[in-house]
Amino acid sequence: MKKLRSQNWFGKKGKDGFIYRAWMKNQGIPDDEFQGKPVIGICNTWSELTPCNAHFRELAESVKRGILEAGGFPLEFPVMSLGETLIKPTAMLYRNLMSMDTEESIRANPLDGVVLLCGCDKTTPATVMGAASVGLPTIVVSGGPMLTGKFKGKNVATSDVWRWSEANRKGELSDVEFRLAEGCMARSKGHCAVMGTASTMACMVESLGLCLPENAAIPAADSRRKVIAQLSGRRIVDMVREDLTIDKILTRAAFENAIMLNAAIGGSTNFVVHLLAIAGRIGVDLTLDDFDKLGSHIPLLANLQPSGDYFMEDFYYAGGLPVVIKELDKELHSDALTVNGQSISENCKASECYNAEIIATREKPFQEASGIAVVYGNLCQNGAIIKPSAATAELMVHKGKALVFENIEDYHARINDPNLEADPTDVLVLKNVGLKGYPGMPEVGNMAVPKKLLSQGVTDMVRISDGRMSGTAYGTVFLHVSPESAAGGNLALVENGDMIEVDVPNRSLNLIVSDEVLAERRKNWQPADLGYNRGYVEMYIREVEEAHLGGDLKFLKGNSGSEVTRDSH
Ligand code: FES
Repeated sequence: MKKLRSQNWFGKKGKDGFIYRAWMKNQGIPDDEFQGKPVIGICNTWSELTPCNAHFRELAESVKRGILEAGGFPLEFPVMSLGETLIKPTAMLYRNLMSMDTEESIRANPLDGVVLLCGCDKTTPATVMGAASVGLPTIVVSGGPMLTGKFKGKNVATSDVWRWSEANRKGELSDVEFRLAEGCMARSKGHCAVMGTASTMACMVESLGLCLPENAAIPAADSRRKVIAQLSGRRIVDMVREDLTIDKILTRAAFENAIMLNAAIGGSTNFVVHLLAIAGRIGVDLTLDDFDKLGSHIPLLANLQPSGDYFMEDFYYAGGLPVVIKELDKELHSDALTVNGQSISENCKASECYNAEIIATREKPFQEASGIAVVYGNLCQNGAIIKPSAATAELMVHKGKALVFENIEDYHARINDPNLEADPTDVLVLKNVGLKGYPGMPEVGNMAVPKKLLSQGVTDMVRISDGRMSGTAYGTVFLHVSPESAAGGNLALVENGDMIEVDVPNRSLNLIVSDEVLAERRKNWQPADLGYNRGYVEMYIREVEEAHLGGDLKFLKGNSGSEVTRDSH
């Protein structure tokens, strides 16, 4: 076995070694723990402010048990945590900050390997980005989805929030019932129970080979969640002995597999910015076009909300992601290595589908083509994305008048106005909700349709913005427009009544306004002053890259390895 990195601390003689060990011993740690055992960091995103991750102390205990059984020495540490539901203005604003915390915490400490405990949306990409920039052996343990909610005898989960909210706006669901639904939906520990962003991220790490098989879908409340945590604890110790570092897992082939599998499960559009950011850290050259090229022809094999009928709990009982991987074996790079030392294909040889209504076969998919489509045009020279499986088929080719909202406040102020001039064929345009413009690119791209039209029975319209969409949402929504409006993209120049033409089969999104008129409008355009002139947010606005590159901070791209060259003792 290669010399353990942790021995640069605990194996030292003299005053330095004394100091490194002595202060650890105040936790009641016996001397033999420091005698050359792999030291495993458990990077815990536990927080009561991140309800989806609030059970992680318990999960960490299972990981520790596994590490000890395998002869390692576990040390749990906290990093910043991002709770999607509570954080304002939006959790995405802090993804990169959390990744910095993770990266620096791992590198600065005497660790040989790391277990990432993550669940709620951003906690997965942020910790993986940070770990990728260090490069130690790394394994992910996801927190698992909530149990399926039950409301008025029906199965429910996060996607129903949008339906209930519309029903409440239309007066079809009373305020009392709306309130009652809260506890019925969130009835157990875990993250959102649909194929929203958290589940998509859990499937992403399983597709990349960064966790043990089945990790993505085991419900948080299922005792097998603790079992996989314990097994992961055992495995990371061997990964250190084998020097199975994260760069050996995160290859170009692994990223391509993740894109194809995300298409097959109907994963969230947020997958795009997170996978691009992770690729940027590990040095794999991935572009927005790869998502369309590799994913858009992949059939939909999972019937899961928000685009389908079932929930993550059902997905697990039906066989989970390994069944989908097995079905897609011909498309995937089947020899891609995973953390258990086996290939992605070997891992699911024995997997079986137990419910054909939830996981389809390659021959009889739920939809012939799924995945994310990338469109270009004068409204989005660097691209925009849409998830056709969550959209209305008739609106995939459409021409309509722009109904423009200058920012989210303008949208809120006017959307319920009974006098708002709006037609079902209009295209809703929301500006200034991008990475720089909001800042942090909130999940508001699936803006609700005008109340006036909703009461006429209109449930979907073409919507365009530089924002993101919750993975639990749906609709004909063009997202991640790049360049964003706050960076001077043409989106900033759209005016009410301009004609917009969308053509998803031909991958185009255009504003039918001449270049001359746009140039004239540009002369009068100025970015809004958001008033952020200090601290992290000022730095974020200055340094953040556009959405088509993953929205990382420029100076965080790449990695710095695990070596620490200076030593103050
Ligand atoms: Fe945490 Fe949905 S709010 S996963």
